Amino acid sequence: MAIRLGDEAPNFTANTTAGSVTFHDWKEGAWAVLFSHPKDFTPVCTTELGYTAKLKDEFDRRNVKAIAVSVDSVTSHNEWSADIEETQGTAVNFPIIGDEDRTVSDLYDMIHPNADNTLTVRSVFVIGPDNKVKLTLTYPASTGRNFDEILRVIDSLQLTAEQQLATPVNWNPGDKVIVAPSVSDDEANERFGSFDAPKPYLRYVDAPK
Ligand code: BEZ
Repeated sequence: MAIRLGDEAPNFTANTTAGSVTFHDWKEGAWAVLFSHPKDFTPVCTTELGYTAKLKDEFDRRNVKAIAVSVDSVTSHNEWSADIEETQGTAVNFPIIGDEDRTVSDLYDMIHPNADNTLTVRSVFVIGPDNKVKLTLTYPASTGRNFDEILRVIDSLQLTAEQQLATPVNWNPGDKVIVAPSVSDDEANERFGSFDAPKPYLRYVDAPK
């Protein structure tokens, strides 16, 4: 069955370019971005993995660990990593799972047979420190994902994780945020200060620091 928001992210033990990884132990206490790519030595995947490696400082700042997966072997991933470093200018600095037996791909429903019955699609799972799934995305093989958008969603998730706040359309860090409908006006004033309310249900506040 497909994995839904709020589900526990399935645990697994897998061989990776960083050795054997037991997912829940490896991510202990951190956020994780688990993402699949269809195939090694392909152009779009090369750009995606290079860009993700470039985001390491941004991920570290947010306590996020990245891990990639495809049905190619760890040996293949290691050989391809040299090309990624050469062409994208950054060495791959996160594990890539060698999922030849499709254990992880099947657990996370990353093979969509009507698109391709052997390769993974471009799935993304953002998983919280509580091991619950917070975001799922599925892109086709021919469309590279926007990893800046994934960072933006993580910023929103981390901002709203502890507070009854939400983020509006095209929100970016620094923009005003929205008070959840479950919070009364009095409570909103007390918790977030004054708010701007073009409608009683649309209340903007500055994001708490
Ligand atoms: C790519 O990464 O370029 C790619 C992989 C599989 C199918 C199409 C494109």
